[in-house]
Amino acid sequence: MIAITGANGQLGKLVVKGLLNVIPADEIIAAVRNPEKSDDLRALGVQVREADYDRPETLLKAFEGVDKVLLISAVVPGERLRQHKAAISAAKQAGVGVLAYTSMLRADTSRMTLAVEHRETERYLKDSGLDFIILRNGWYLENNTGALIPAIEQGAIIGSAGQGRFASAARADYAAAAVSVLTHPGHTNKTYELAGDESFSMSEFAEAVSKQVGRTIAYNDMPPTKYESILLSFGLPKIIVDVIIDADVKSLSGELNSSSNDLSQLIGRSTTTLSDAIQAALTVQPAVPPKEGLPVIEIVTFTLKPSVTAAQFILVDRLIEAEYVSKCPGFLSRESAPGPNNTWLAIIHWQSVGSADASMKGIVTAPGADKLMSMIVPESMGMTLYGW
Ligand SMILES: NC(=O)c1ccc[n+]([C@@H]2O[C@H](COP(=O)([O-])OP(=O)(O)OC[C@H]3O[C@@H](n4cnc5c(N)ncnc54)[C@H](OP(=O)(O)O)[C@@H]3O)[C@@H](O)[C@H]2O)c1
Repeated sequence: MIAITGANGQLGKLVVKGLLNVIPADEIIAAVRNPEKSDDLRALGVQVREADYDRPETLLKAFEGVDKVLLISAVVPGERLRQHKAAISAAKQAGVGVLAYTSMLRADTSRMTLAVEHRETERYLKDSGLDFIILRNGWYLENNTGALIPAIEQGAIIGSAGQGRFASAARADYAAAAVSVLTHPGHTNKTYELAGDESFSMSEFAEAVSKQVGRTIAYNDMPPTKYESILLSFGLPKIIVDVIIDADVKSLSGELNSSSNDLSQLIGRSTTTLSDAIQAALTVQPAVPPKEGLPVIEIVTFTLKPSVTAAQFILVDRLIEAEYVSKCPGFLSRESAPGPNNTWLAIIHWQSVGSADASMKGIVTAPGADKLMSMIVPESMGMTLYGW
């Protein structure tokens, strides 16, 4: 039995789904703070148990009969060490065989503020006598891509990271690493430095975004005090703002960069590229994804720039259809037409979700794609898949 704590969270759900590809559902326990929020996990066939870091009695019960625990680090700085200690003690008391913990990059030496509680947790875990696996996760690509749409609307990405480099990877990569160490032998009492295969500066991030949206999105570097006041004006809590500023400032001395290839080695593939992460963030996902293997209908809507006429756009649209979309594997049919106020609609039928996704990923390099993107108001672009 493998229990995943924080399983209602984004990383936890990815780990549970990844485990389902490797072990039966009845060997997986989603250990969550709020079981009433876990209908989607129950629908996957896994067992849901209450496990609140602030209520140790729930942790002990959640870990009953469990061989391996993945302790996903808690959320609130300042509270986390106490919460992690409660989970580790409960695992020890319940007779868990091995506890894997999601720490942070070079937690033993890092000067980032967040590292302190991770370092202390690692020490507590090692001192507990439990067998351990330490997954020192680097920064998530989603930390950058999560706020992309408003940044594009503003025409700029802001920060205080200067030329600091981020060897970030996608949550899905870190989840795959957790699945790998939990389901394969040979990882006990090891520590992994997990980071993306490539690093980028914030200027390079802005350049990659500009390329995909077809217009310049600048990176505006600013003093930390100015960045802080802007983040606070967005309504972000001070405790979170402090973490963001600290990360940017410490990135200047390389704290979020790494040349470790532990992550790609554990997952047996390259880590998610910055460009794929940007593309995923710009693609609106349906609330209920259609099932793989069944036909889907892709609806794409957007608005042409005021200077672009329907007659000009149709030429580029037809070129993309003839030279790229219709040649993609799984293509069934496509139609497109103008609507009111320079809006445009395209309806594409695909044999499966996979074929629709693959075509979307490749479109950036398709002939005429640059021209097409330059004619569209970037933030007006919406894509939804419909299917059963
Ligand atoms: N490497 C990075 O860049 C990065 C970025 C952000 C966070 N992190 C760390 O990585 C962890 C996982 O990331 P994520 O994206 O999955 O975060 P997330 O989506 O916010 O999920 C965190 C989960 O922790 C649960 N949780 C919070 N307090 C708890 C408690 N007292 N007892 C039990 N569970 C509790 C939450 O439960 P509810 O669903 O009930 O709220 C939530 O499901 C975070 O918690 C944080 O430590 C890393």
